[in-house]
Amino acid sequence: MIKTNVLFVCLGNICRSPVAEALFREKILKSGLIGISCDSAGTNGLHNGEQPDIRSIKVCEENGIFLNHISRQVTSEDFENFDLILALDHTNLTLLQRMQPESSNAEIHLLRKWDTVLEDLNVKDPYYGNQQDFVEMFEVIDRACAGLVNSLASGQK
Ligand code: 4NP
Repeated sequence: MIKTNVLFVCLGNICRSPVAEALFREKILKSGLIGISCDSAGTNGLHNGEQPDIRSIKVCEENGIFLNHISRQVTSEDFENFDLILALDHTNLTLLQRMQPESSNAEIHLLRKWDTVLEDLNVKDPYYGNQQDFVEMFEVIDRACAGLVNSLASGQK
């Protein structure tokens, strides 16, 4: 299989995208697919160097997922180093599309393109919400990552 590097991108890289990265990695491991790697980053550098939000850590822990990530901002090199860049919502999709250098061949999509429930393609920003918002965020990301892994397993993107 051709190597696929996947980057998950939200705003702060402390709530949504670290969860997407960890869930995707877990599903790739379970699927037995090889040659796929992933990371996450934020379009906004406000939380650079921070651990994930405690509420993301909690919902992951409750579901047996270990979060191990330090927040970082998207760089121009990311557009060369990753071939699939997945935004957690439309705002970040637009920011990424504006940032993409001409030399980059990376494909940029919404993560929820692979969700089976398509009423709203944003993974809602839970930062100003409560733990229940993080539970719902986890469920949406879990479903979309499962769809993504299925499509990678069947040789599609
Ligand atoms: P994330 O959530 O983009 O899912 O990491 C946010 C984290 C921080 C802020 C907003 C959203 N903030 O405004 O600081």
